[in-house]
Amino acid sequence: MAESAVKRIGVLTSGGDAPGMNAAVRSVVRSALDRGIECIGIRRGWSGLINGDFYRMDSGSVSRIINRGGTILYTARSEEFRTAEGQAKAAGVCKLLGLDGIVAIGGDGTFRGAQELSKCGVSVVGIPGTIDNDIVCTEYTIGFDTAVLAAECIDKLRDTMQSHERCAVVEVMGRHAGYLALYVGVAVGATAVLVPERPYDFHSQVAEKIRHARLNGKTNFMIVVAEGAASAMDVGKEIKEHLGLDPRVTILGHIQRGGSPTAKDRVLATRMGYEAVRVLAEGMTNRVICVRDDQIVNVDIDEGLAMKKTLNAEEFEVMTVMTGV
Ligand code: F6P
Repeated sequence: MAESAVKRIGVLTSGGDAPGMNAAVRSVVRSALDRGIECIGIRRGWSGLINGDFYRMDSGSVSRIINRGGTILYTARSEEFRTAEGQAKAAGVCKLLGLDGIVAIGGDGTFRGAQELSKCGVSVVGIPGTIDNDIVCTEYTIGFDTAVLAAECIDKLRDTMQSHERCAVVEVMGRHAGYLALYVGVAVGATAVLVPERPYDFHSQVAEKIRHARLNGKTNFMIVVAEGAASAMDVGKEIKEHLGLDPRVTILGHIQRGGSPTAKDRVLATRMGYEAVRVLAEGMTNRVICVRDDQIVNVDIDEGLAMKKTLNAEEFEVMTVMTGV
C-alpha cells in the first residue's frame, strides 16, 4: 500500500458497546499497519483520551477478537468531554502523542464529541457502532444485526405464553428510536409493537390489537415495547386494568448488547474500519463512514447528523397489516 503523510492514528470505542466493535478495531489496526501507519489504542473512549489512557497496538493485539462481543478497548460515557475544557485536554493529548487522526467507533453521542474535537484541529472519522441503528446518515450501524437476535429470546417467551395462554409484554432497548423494536416485532410476529416515533395510545395500539387477536381465536399475545415509547411495566398494568388479563412483563435490557457478532456485523465492521483508515490516510477529516445501498461511503459529520431518520415505512406498514388493526 502507498505511503501516507499520516504516520500515527488513534482508535477508540465510546458510548454503549455493540457486538462487532472488536471487528472494527481489528480492521482499523490492520488497515493502518498495511499503510505503514502506527495505531494507538485509546482505552475507555473520550475519557481515556483526556486521561492519556493508551497503548501501542500491533497486528497480534487484535488477534482472536473478530468473534468477540463487547470491546477490548473498553468504553465509557464522558461528561468531561462534553465541556470545552475536556475537548481542549483531549486535543492536547493528541498533539503530545503526535496523532494525525482519530477513528471513533460509537453512536450519536460519540459523533457529537468527534465534531467538537474536529473543531480543535484534530482529524476525526466516525464509525457507527450502536445496537440502536439510530445514526441518521447510515442505513446500518454495527451491532444492530446481532441485537435483533433478541427475537430468539422472545420466541422462548412465546413458548411459555402459549402453554399458559398468557399475554407477554417485552421491553427492548433502542433509546429514543424504534428500529430495534419494530424489526424484532416483525420477526416474532408480535400482536403489537410500540415505538417512540408514534405517539402512544393504549386503546388503539394495544387494547384493540389484543381484542382483534382474541376475536380471531388467539389466546396468547406478544406486545413488544421500545424503551423510548413506554414503560413495559405500565403497559402491563394497563392491560390488566382495561382487559382483565394477567400479563407477564420482561425487560430484555443489556442482554441485547452482548454476544458474538453475526457475520453481517463482522463484515460491516471490517469494511467500515478499512474505509475509515483510507479516509484519514487521504487527508480527510470530520467524516462518518456509512452504508448506503450496501455500499460503504463517507459523509461529512455535520451534514450526516443534521439529517432526519424516519422509521422504515414499509416495515411499519407490514407490521400494521400483520396485526390486523
Ligand atoms: O445506545 C445503546 C443503548 O444500549 C440504548 O439502547 C440504551 O438506552 C442505552 O444504551 C443503555 O445505556 P447504559 O448501558 O448506559 O445503561
